[in-house]
Amino acid sequence: IQIASFWENMDGTTRERLSHIQGIPLLERVVKYWPRVEKFQASEEDLLIATYPKAGTTWTQEVVDSILNEGDVEKCKRAPTQVRMPFLEMTAPDGITKLEVMDPPRVIKTHLPIQLVPRSFWDAGCKVIYMARNPKDTVVSYYHFDRMHLYQPDICLVLCKMGILGWGSWYDHVKGYWKERHNKKILYILYEDMKEDPVREVTRIAQFLKRQLSKSTIEHIVQMTAFSAMRENPMANYSTIPDTIFDRTASEFMRKGEVGDWKNHFSAGEDAAFEEHYRKIMSDCPIPIRFTI
Ligand code: A3P
Repeated sequence: IQIASFWENMDGTTRERLSHIQGIPLLERVVKYWPRVEKFQASEEDLLIATYPKAGTTWTQEVVDSILNEGDVEKCKRAPTQVRMPFLEMTAPDGITKLEVMDPPRVIKTHLPIQLVPRSFWDAGCKVIYMARNPKDTVVSYYHFDRMHLYQPDICLVLCKMGILGWGSWYDHVKGYWKERHNKKILYILYEDMKEDPVREVTRIAQFLKRQLSKSTIEHIVQMTAFSAMRENPMANYSTIPDTIFDRTASEFMRKGEVGDWKNHFSAGEDAAFEEHYRKIMSDCPIPIRFTI
């Protein structure tokens, strides 16, 4: 109840409520269809792209699809992102229904923390690409995504309470996949690394997917999946999502795509308070997350 009223009060409108699975706050529609998600049958060739919301999921998806299609722009424009690479737990429109009529190998998006990923992915030995993004830029992006512009919250307060956002705590999420990365087939990548040197990171992803691509194909993929290119690509920019779901007058999905936009939102005091909190919580887990590049 507390969580639901938090969202309602954020901009004065009633948003979809959050409910829980094993203590993780998820949209009510995700919880409603949870038994289907939990029972989802992955096959060995399926690839899971896992992220905390706003960490660069769509970017990773486009890079992966471009690699699998060897940089063929037209093939990558065959359908919008959410049709090419369905969102596992997002059940309206139904990710599972889309996946069930697709033949493996399927590329599947999820925001689920590692403990909620359906068991069949691990039993089948599926590969997983996890992208993490620094929490300051993640929360700024989340903030804009949720169109909280009518209510100016204390961004630091929101950040420190990230556990109440949909899909749970950023800290637990990034740590969960990090700790399992050597036990499972997980390639752990960072948004900031990809911004800094996309050729290097796209090459790493291609190697993980066992795709031999020429240097010029990699460079072509980097251009195809650059923020400026994806923003103009109707099959990668979510312009196919109706305005009744995405209110583009409040914010755009392809908003800035930068590292360090948090500096425009955090005061020095908020930043210092956050840094202290962050250092404490991350002290047991040395993920090399950077806040600037
Ligand atoms: P900003 O809101 O900071 O601009 P997700 O896909 O996980 O929802 O993440 C969305 C964030 O990734 C948005 O961040 C979006 O602009 C950014 N993004 C999308 N495509 C990108 C790209 N090709 N390069 C860099 N950032 C990208």
